[in-house]
Order: sequence, then C-alpha cells, then structure tokens
Amino acid sequence: MEKTFLMVKPDAVQRHLIGNIVSRFEAKGFRLVGAKLMKISNELAEKHYAEHKDRPFFGELVEFITSGPVFAMVWEGENVIKTARQMMGSTNPSDAAPGTIRGDYGVVVRKNIIHGSDSEESAAREISLFFNEEELLQYDRPV
Ligand code: CMP
Repeated sequence: MEKTFLMVKPDAVQRHLIGNIVSRFEAKGFRLVGAKLMKISNELAEKHYAEHKDRPFFGELVEFITSGPVFAMVWEGENVIKTARQMMGSTNPSDAAPGTIRGDYGVVVRKNIIHGSDSEESAAREISLFFNEEELLQYDRPV
C-alpha cells in the first residue's frame, strides 16, 4: 500500500492545529501508521531539504523547521501521495484554495503549515530519514 510522509510544521504545532490536520486525513479514509512529536536537528533538516540547498531561502527554511517541535507522520492509502498534496493545497498559502489545509490556515510561504512528500521516491527517502522500520505499524481496521 502506498505511503507518504507528512509533517505538521512548527507554526502549526504552536497554533494547536495538529488535531485538526490529523482529523482531515483520518476522515478522508487514510491510515496513520507512524507518528512522533519531535524537534528536528540541523543535520536532519539539511538532509530533508537537501534538494533546496542552493535556493536563497535555504538558511531561513532550516532555521524555521528547527525552531520548534514538528509532528512527523506516515500515512498509508491508495494514491495517498497525490491526494494528501491536493488536501494540503499550493505551497504558497496565498495561492492555496479555501478548503485546503494551507488555504484555510496559512498566510506566508515560509510558514506554510505542513510538508508532504511529492513523489514515491521522496516519500521513501523522507520516511526513512524520520522513522525506523519498527516505528511503522501494520494493522487492519476493525470491521
Ligand atoms: P515544503 O513543502 O516543506 O518544501 C520546501 C519549503 O520551502 C516549502 O514547503 C516552503 O515552506 C519553503 N519555501 C518555498 N519558497 C520559499 C521562500 N521563497 N521563502 C522561504 N521559504 C520558502
């Protein structure tokens, strides 16, 4: 079953939006298979955002993502990578449609509430950066 990595960013943790964000993915029908509240080290932030290392905002990005706790999650379900990104909305919250997570809660691109993997390759890479195999559960829904 397809898996994706989603992370509630420090701005949204501080604004008490974890429950709201988790609820949206639960209500949609996806399955939470791993989760942790954690403070990201500089080293992990630089690895996670390695593809952006030449961008002018890289320093700011690392500083922000390490500034407070994040809620890292792995979700499972059919087409979860693409659907989760649709539910998140455009990267820049000012372009994100109302009804999406960023459209409903975000204002500026740096504090854009949530991160989600953009492909199968990045999902596999990001999941393995944040979680060990034994931290990911397999379970069936009760009937
Ligand atoms: P995310 O999906 O986590 O992936 C890369 C992040 O870079 C993105 O969300 C934004 O939060 C951030 N980002 C993109 N553009 C800018 C920018 N111009 N200034 C600061 N941060 C940015």
